[in-house]
Amino acid sequence: MTLFEITKFIHILSVFIWTGGIIFTIIVNRELKKYMDMMNATKTLSIIGKSIQLPMRISLILAIISGIILLILRKLPILEIEFYKTSIGKLILIKYIVVLMFVLILPYHSKIGKSLIKENDKEKFKKLRNLLIFIGWIILILSILAMYLGTKIRYGF
Ligand code: HEM
Repeated sequence: MTLFEITKFIHILSVFIWTGGIIFTIIVNRELKKYMDMMNATKTLSIIGKSIQLPMRISLILAIISGIILLILRKLPILEIEFYKTSIGKLILIKYIVVLMFVLILPYHSKIGKSLIKENDKEKFKKLRNLLIFIGWIILILSILAMYLGTKIRYGF
C-alpha cells in the first residue's frame, strides 16, 4: 500500500464515521420521540450523543488532516493564489469554505445542546430544540456537500 492509498483510506473511513454519526443521531432522535415525551427524548439523546461525540470529533479532525495530506501528496501548489483560479483550485477552495463553515458552526451546536438540558421552561425548550435540530441538519448538508466536492476533486485531475 502506498502512502497515498493509506491516507485516502483514512480520509474515507473518517468521513464515513463522521457522516454516519450524524445520520445515526437523526435516526435515534426520531425513534426516541415515538416512545418518550420531548424533554426525556432530548435528555436521552444527549447521553447517547456524548458517547459518540469523541469518536466523531476525532474522525472530523482526521478527515481534515488526511484531506490536506492528500493535496500535498498530489503535489498541488496549494500555497499559490494563482492555483485557486484554475477549475480544480476553485473546487478545492469551495471545499475549504464548506469544511470551515461546519467546523465553525459545531461549537455553537454544542453550546445550544448544553443549555437545552438545563432549560426547564417548556416553550424555551421547544425553541432551543428546534434550533438545535436545524443546525444539525445544516451540518449534515454541509458534510454531504464536502463529500460531493471531494468526489468532484477526485475526478478533476
Ligand atoms: C480541509 C479539509 C479537506 C481537504 C483538504 C480534503 C481534500 C480532499 C482531496 C484532495 C480529495 C481527493 C483525493 C484524491 O486525490 O483522490 C478528497 C476526497 C474526498 N473527500 Fe475530502 N478533504 C477535506 C475534508 C473532507 C470532509 C470533511 C469530508 C466529508 C465530510 C470529505 C469527503 C471526501 C470524499 C467523500 C472524497 C471522495 C474520495 C473519492 O472519491 O475517492 N473531505 N478530499
